[in-house]
Amino acid sequence: MITIHKENQIAVLTFNRPESLNALNRETLEIFSKTVKEIAAQKQISIIILTGAGDKAFIAGADIKEMQSMTPLEASHFAALGQQVLLDLEHASQITIAAVNGFALGGGCEVAMGCDLIYASEKAKFGQPEVNLGVTPGFGGTQRLMRLVGPMRAREMIYTGGTIDAKEALAIGLIAKVFPHDQLMPKVLELAKNILTKGPEALRRSKIALREGLDIALSRACTIEREQFALCFASPEQKEGMAAFLEKRKPVWRS
Ligand code: CAA
Repeated sequence: MITIHKENQIAVLTFNRPESLNALNRETLEIFSKTVKEIAAQKQISIIILTGAGDKAFIAGADIKEMQSMTPLEASHFAALGQQVLLDLEHASQITIAAVNGFALGGGCEVAMGCDLIYASEKAKFGQPEVNLGVTPGFGGTQRLMRLVGPMRAREMIYTGGTIDAKEALAIGLIAKVFPHDQLMPKVLELAKNILTKGPEALRRSKIALREGLDIALSRACTIEREQFALCFASPEQKEGMAAFLEKRKPVWRS
């Protein structure tokens, strides 16, 4: 249901349920949750890439066949599981990237939004179509979409249940870049390898400042940034990074 490929500090997780366009059922979510926890604890992995198997879908949402008969309590547990795995992903020290190779609808769009960066193929389609099914988004979609693209575009996407293509997703700031379909993974790996050349602790601390500062007053958020900035100066990485610049050579990171 999820295949894992690890190479050179990069873990690629591929959602693989082709019969339902990689839709997320409980079992897949449980595997996803366990996998994220395991990889988050692996210091040798610096980047986690999520993608979907096949040519058509990243993830076509939560599994509608499974949700159809859920009670309110089961639905609450299901949403809690989906929400928690995305919070775990956000709190992982690794940089996380969604490589969206097709439909990213409902829970699929929500998984992508739980990543630090979203890159998409020209074939990708994004949406929160839950109202078409008589439900709201349940894996953080109402909240993350609003924070990423602003309340107006989020309301429009959620109230109409419509889909947008990669070009529009780029225009509204939902995603970082669009690539030709067959170039998606090579380009994402190239970007990941570029990130791997940067200071590992600086990356981890930047992720903390970006995440922790998002929902709080600017003055407090700036304090968090200042703390992370100052802590960098307690690490050999800062000495090496600045020495390398001044000595006109490439830095050699040890952490
Ligand atoms: N759950 C379960 N099965 C799904 C699925 C999903 N989310 N999405 C697609 N499938 C299944 C289809 O039922 C179909 O199965 P069968 O062959 O057994 O009939 C198979 O995948 C292929 O799908 P289609 O024949 O529909 O393919 P298409 O190319 O005609 O359409 C699509 C593709 C537009 C993505 C369409 O499948 C679709 O609209 N899917 C549902 C998208 C959706 O509503 N997602 C939100 C789910 S709710 C949610 O995610 C809640 C939350 O926030 C937690």
